[in-house]
Amino acid sequence: MSNSLINDVKKVYIDTFNKEPLLIFSPGRINIIGEHTDYNDGFVFPAAVNKGIVAGIEKSDSNISTAYALDKDSKIEFKLDELKPSKEGSWQNYVFGVIAEIQNRNKTIGNFNIAFKGDIPGGAGMSSSAALENSVAFGLNELFNLGLSKEDMIFISQKAEHNYVGVNCGIMDQYASMFGIKDNALHLDCRTIKAQPYKIDFKDHQLMLINTNVKHSLSDSAYNDRRSACESVSELLGIKALRDATEADLETIKDQVAPENYQKALFVIQENKRTQQAAKAIENDDLESLGKLIYASHDGLQNQYKVSCEELDFLVNQAKGNKHVLGARMMGGGFGGCTINLVAKSEAKAFSETASIAYKKEFNKDCSVYFIELSEGTHLIK
Ligand code: GLA
Repeated sequence: MSNSLINDVKKVYIDTFNKEPLLIFSPGRINIIGEHTDYNDGFVFPAAVNKGIVAGIEKSDSNISTAYALDKDSKIEFKLDELKPSKEGSWQNYVFGVIAEIQNRNKTIGNFNIAFKGDIPGGAGMSSSAALENSVAFGLNELFNLGLSKEDMIFISQKAEHNYVGVNCGIMDQYASMFGIKDNALHLDCRTIKAQPYKIDFKDHQLMLINTNVKHSLSDSAYNDRRSACESVSELLGIKALRDATEADLETIKDQVAPENYQKALFVIQENKRTQQAAKAIENDDLESLGKLIYASHDGLQNQYKVSCEELDFLVNQAKGNKHVLGARMMGGGFGGCTINLVAKSEAKAFSETASIAYKKEFNKDCSVYFIELSEGTHLIK
């Protein structure tokens, strides 16, 4: 968490609203493995990181509330009893959505002002949206003593995303951002919402992100389509979610589903298995196996689930061509954002430089490299 971010938010808040705010840090996340499994009640393996959103929040004395996105230099006033979704893609939907979901639970809040700023690049697949939603939920809970548990808050954030943003996301991002533990990744069961923390110390290896700096359009509708496809296959199988299916089960209905959807469901079943195998590999300090699972995850995301793009595939191929990278894959919803790489510490910088040069040559644009630390989840800044 960067001190300059905290100081910026505090200063602007006081200059704008003449009050000292409560300050909240809400992190973004990485995900080691387990992609598109969360909304299938499966397993994921995310961790909160030291990049995120700092929000300042306090009660307002007027009959109006204000949200101020410092990064966008955009300030908007609103009335709490007149909320509705703004046009698609507007940042205020993350704020409005959380307020509306809190109100839906018959909790009463008063007027307030919030200002926020972040250092997670948008579209990086690092969940800047969940970080923002959680910061609003957490801040309002503190300010108005709503008595919400952290689990309540993540479901509020998720519903905001469904109903105001229009993405039918799973629970991974909100969970990881809220419940992150320093130096740990969370092996989360998305059915029970219980996670097992894993201390991540890969000795002479580390995780490194490379951002393609692209976000292809239509990614939201493609996401929702895939979720529906998974749900229709589980309905055919007569189960609650694909988490309950084996490859053999899927085989029994193969001729009743379109080949593309068969591949998608197969991916989910396999990815869910890989995620559990990855947990075992980490327990056994078996980074070779972990790396292979990560490469296999990318292969499935690219060829079966079809949520990758040429920029991501290019970076993963760069990794495959370097024997010091044990595994690499696209991370998050897909269609852009980052790859996550499991790379030898001594070679990480050299690999990132070679890959960056090759990327620039291929696409005539820059990628960005992030070395991240695993951090604590959403919390008050004292
Ligand atoms: C996005 C969603 C998550 C999850 C991932 C894919 O980040 O918000 O719920 O589905 O995509 O694993």
